[in-house]
Amino acid sequence: MHNFNAEHAAELDQNDPLAHYRELFHFPLDANGNPVNYFCGHSLGLQSVAASDMVNTALESWRLQGVDGHFTGGKPWLTYLENLQPLMAALVGAQPREVTCMNSLTVNLHLLMASFYRPQGKRSKIVIEKHAFPSDRYAVVSQLQWHGLDPATHMIEIEPLPGQALIDEAQVEQLLSERGDEIALLMFPGVQYITGQFFDLQRLTTAAHAAGAVAGFDLAHAAGNLPLQLHDSGADFACWCGYKYLNGGPGTLSGCFVHERHLDRDDVIKLAGWWSNDVSTRFEMREQLDWARGADAWQISNPPILSTAPLLTALDIHHRAGMQALRDKAIALTGFLETGLQTLVGEHIEIITPSDPQQRGCQLSVRMLAGKDSGQQLYKSLYQHGHICDWRNPDIMRIAPVPLYNSFSDVYRLLGCMRSLLAQ
Ligand SMILES: Cc1ncc(COP(=O)(O)O)c(C=O)c1O
Repeated sequence: MHNFNAEHAAELDQNDPLAHYRELFHFPLDANGNPVNYFCGHSLGLQSVAASDMVNTALESWRLQGVDGHFTGGKPWLTYLENLQPLMAALVGAQPREVTCMNSLTVNLHLLMASFYRPQGKRSKIVIEKHAFPSDRYAVVSQLQWHGLDPATHMIEIEPLPGQALIDEAQVEQLLSERGDEIALLMFPGVQYITGQFFDLQRLTTAAHAAGAVAGFDLAHAAGNLPLQLHDSGADFACWCGYKYLNGGPGTLSGCFVHERHLDRDDVIKLAGWWSNDVSTRFEMREQLDWARGADAWQISNPPILSTAPLLTALDIHHRAGMQALRDKAIALTGFLETGLQTLVGEHIEIITPSDPQQRGCQLSVRMLAGKDSGQQLYKSLYQHGHICDWRNPDIMRIAPVPLYNSFSDVYRLLGCMRSLLAQ
C-alpha cells in the first residue's frame, strides 16, 4: 500500500531509474510560461527535445540535396522505414518483417480490412464493441457498405452487461461460439479508449479463430503503453497510431502488423502502389509489381518524411528506456494515482478502469459521483490550474500518467489540486 504524501512521491522519484527521461521531452507552457502538468499522453504524446533536430536534418537534406536526399546525407530518407521497423516491432512483440509503418491509423484499418475482411456467404458479419472509437465504427460501417452489406444487420455490437462499465472477454467468447458461423471478422481494441480496459488479445484471437473468424486489433491506446506479444497472440492484423504513447507527433505514421502466416501469401489481396514494390527493384519502374517481402507489401505511397522524423527519434528513446522498465514504472505510477484518488477524493469519484494492473495500462478513467456538470467543471478548473487531463462526454475524465515523462510528484500535485478544488 502506498503512502500518499509529497515526501513519498519525492522518494519514489528519486528511486525511479527512468526519471531522467523526462528531460528528453518538452512540456507545454501555461499562460505564465510555466510547464503544465501533462496527463494527456493517451491522446497526444509530448514532443521529444530531439524531434526538431531530426526534422531540421530532413529539411536541410531537402534544401541542400533535393531529390538526392532520398539516398544520401546523414539520414537518407530511404533508411527511415528500415530503421523504424525493428524498433516498432520490438515495442509490440512482433518480428520485424511482420511490422511496417505507413499512413494514419484509420487508413490502415481500411487497408487491412480490404485484405482480411472477405465476406463469404453466411460468414459476412463484423463484431465490434458498441463504444468503439468513432473512426473505427465509421470504418467498419463503410467497409460493410463497400461490400454491399447492410450495417444494421451485419455489424454486431457488443457492450458491457447491464450495470457494468466493462466488457468481459467471456462475453466475446460466448458470442463467437454462438454465432461464429456468421462472423467474418472480430475488430477489437487492445485498450478501450474511454475505460482504459486492456483486453487479452490472445484469448480474443483464440476465440475468433475457433469460430473461423479473423481477429484484427486497433492498438492505438495499447502500443507503447503495455508490453504486447502480437506475434504470439496469433492476431491476424493490427494497427496503431504513432502519436499517443509513441510520441511521434500529430498525424505521424501509424504502425501495422500482419501475422507471419499471412505474409508472402499470393491469395491475400492487397491494395498496391509503387511502395508495395520491394525496395531493391522499386526504382526500376517495372510494369509488373515485384512485391515487397513481409508487411511492407501493404505500403502504397512514399512516406511523409517530415512527420516520420520525430517518430524515429521518439522510438529510439522508447527503445533505450525499454518497454519492460516502462511497464514496471507504469504499474507503480498508475497505482500511486489510484491510491491518491481513493485517499484524497474517493468520496467524489468512481474509477471505472479495472483495478487489476494486468487489465489496464497507465490510463485511469474517473466518473464524478455528483454528475456530469460537476465532473466537467472539475476538469476545466484543473486545466486552468495547469493540470491537463481530458474529458469525454458524457461523464468521464481520463488521466494518463505516462512513465516515460511523468513523475510521482506530478501525480501528487494533480491530486493536491483536485482535492482543494473539490473542497471548495
Ligand atoms: C482508438 C482510436 N482509433 C482510431 C483513431 C483515429 O486515428 P487516425 O486519425 O490516425 O486515423 C484514434 C485517434 O485518436 C483512436 O484513439
